[in-house]
Amino acid sequence: MKKRIIKATPILIISLIIIFLSSIVGVLIPISVSALVEEVRLINFLSPIVLTIILFILQAIMVAVGHTMMARDGDYQIKHMRNSFMNRLLHAPKAFFDLNSPSELANRIINDTNHIQQFITQSLPTFISSIVTVVGTLIALLFLDWQLTSILLISLPLVAIPLIPLTKLSSRYSIRQQNSLSRLSSLILEYLQNMSLIKSSVAEEFAYKEVQGYTEDLRHISSKNTTLYAVVQPIGLLLIFGSIALIFSYGGLRVNQGTLSVGTLISFLIYLFQLINPLGSFSGFFAQKGKMEGAIQKLSKIQDIEVENLDEGKLFNYGEINFIDVSFGYPKINTNSEELIVNMKSIYSDELNLMPILEGVSMTFKEGEKTAIVGPSGGGKSTILNLLMQFYPIKNGKIISKENEIDSFKLSDWRDNISIVSQDISILSGTIRENLVFGLDYSPSENQIQYAIRFAHLEETIAKLHDGLETVVGEAGSRLSGGQKQRIHIARAVLRDTPILLLDEATSNLDADAEYQINQSLQRLMGSKTTIVVAHRLSTIMDADNIYFIDNKKVTGSGTHSELLKTHASYARFVKEQLLSNE
Ligand SMILES: Nc1ncnc2c1ncn2[C@@H]1O[C@H](COP(=O)(O)OP(=O)(O)O)[C@@H](O)[C@H]1O
Ligand SMILES: [Mg+2]
Repeated sequence: MKKRIIKATPILIISLIIIFLSSIVGVLIPISVSALVEEVRLINFLSPIVLTIILFILQAIMVAVGHTMMARDGDYQIKHMRNSFMNRLLHAPKAFFDLNSPSELANRIINDTNHIQQFITQSLPTFISSIVTVVGTLIALLFLDWQLTSILLISLPLVAIPLIPLTKLSSRYSIRQQNSLSRLSSLILEYLQNMSLIKSSVAEEFAYKEVQGYTEDLRHISSKNTTLYAVVQPIGLLLIFGSIALIFSYGGLRVNQGTLSVGTLISFLIYLFQLINPLGSFSGFFAQKGKMEGAIQKLSKIQDIEVENLDEGKLFNYGEINFIDVSFGYPKINTNSEELIVNMKSIYSDELNLMPILEGVSMTFKEGEKTAIVGPSGGGKSTILNLLMQFYPIKNGKIISKENEIDSFKLSDWRDNISIVSQDISILSGTIRENLVFGLDYSPSENQIQYAIRFAHLEETIAKLHDGLETVVGEAGSRLSGGQKQRIHIARAVLRDTPILLLDEATSNLDADAEYQINQSLQRLMGSKTTIVVAHRLSTIMDADNIYFIDNKKVTGSGTHSELLKTHASYARFVKEQLLSNE
């Protein structure tokens, strides 16, 4: 069952009732004012003056209380909504983020939720009090004078009818404006995050033109909307004042004839003016409702995301890991659509839409041994590690550890027992220390941290920084070199100290000297761990217990270095190239 995005909480309902009642009080005010003018005693001991004052105060208090409660509930719901959507995204599978744009997702959580909040806290209460006011006023008017009211009732639809199509149009424009704004914000975010690419490609002008295109698009739709609004408002007012003038003249005539009292005419007019705002707010309400529905539609897609179950499954039981006849492909999907793609399992098993990457791959990673994977770039080596991390669902075959398919283990346990150091050297924007301990399930002692730092040969780097470990590294680690980021990842792997270690060209961002140093450390780190290393350097591969050669989606050979050298031509060629490049 899908959870409702907006919840009718008790507070929300109570505040709506208070706002409802306050509007009823509002409808009563003109009656007591008319009594005031005609100096009738409504109830024996209550003079009209006192009654009018009481009603005004009562209405003010109710409006204040109702709206405050409402706004608080809206704030609370929006907070809850943002938390739960973010929580859902955090638990979406890795594959989901290959297919859906992060800025589009951010937009949904930030802007779309805002539209809902505005609807709850502003449009909805205004609408309710408008309805009450309009209905209540009409009833009161009928009692006051049915003839005047009949004129009003005939002229009201005449006022409303021309506005209906305009209101619909405005609601359509609002949604387009919303989409255009979200496209613009995605583009700006993307450019700001890729400034070095823009600079090095001298693409400032190109990027600027692109942004101009988007801002122009936004201006265009926004102008249309403003013009429409500018036209609707005066037309609406004109029509309303027109009908008021009509009623005024007729009312004046009746007063002269003596068939209508001045007091009644005055309260009639007060009622009429009381109608203007509510009638005007209806068009705003439908525009806002359109936005809110658009937002809900987008947000309910987030609720459809299949999340990973981190907490259920067998206890981690680690041993030899086997790939048995594994086939896998990445989906052929163009991903820049505004629609979210949510159903990973069905996408990754849809044969026709998959780009085959691995076909019938069988491999064994023995417990406590070091297995190397080599082969031409793009052959699927990193993909094998991704499958091991359970980042993507496989199409066919099995991955097994100790007789269990790995997806039967508790996922958080499984990943907690694997460390990966790869070419992907993502860094968070906090301090170096925060990056080192991110996600650790224990808090390491100062000694442990220092040990990890020495291990990754980070001590010199950190000594040079103005605040040492507490130095803020900039967004995405923009103030660190690639090599430094990679060392932070290595230090983190040391702190995690897991029985399974995956190294995917873990030293690719280091120069030859640094690579030599780090390799010595990595050798030690591997120790008795089950290690899988994807490597391009001969030195890292030669001493592996077993080597797999991956080429064109398949394992084309396996064995130790000396075995492969003799039996596998491609491997021999790879070794020769490595030796040449090392000279
Ligand atoms: N997330 C992804 N989505 C779609 N295609 C991918 C993704 N990651 C890698 N690929 C493609 O899969 C193939 C294998 O990639 P990869 O496993 O990274 O190769 P290797 O590590 O051997 O260089 C490449 O052709 C690459 O373009
Ligand atoms: Mg790779």
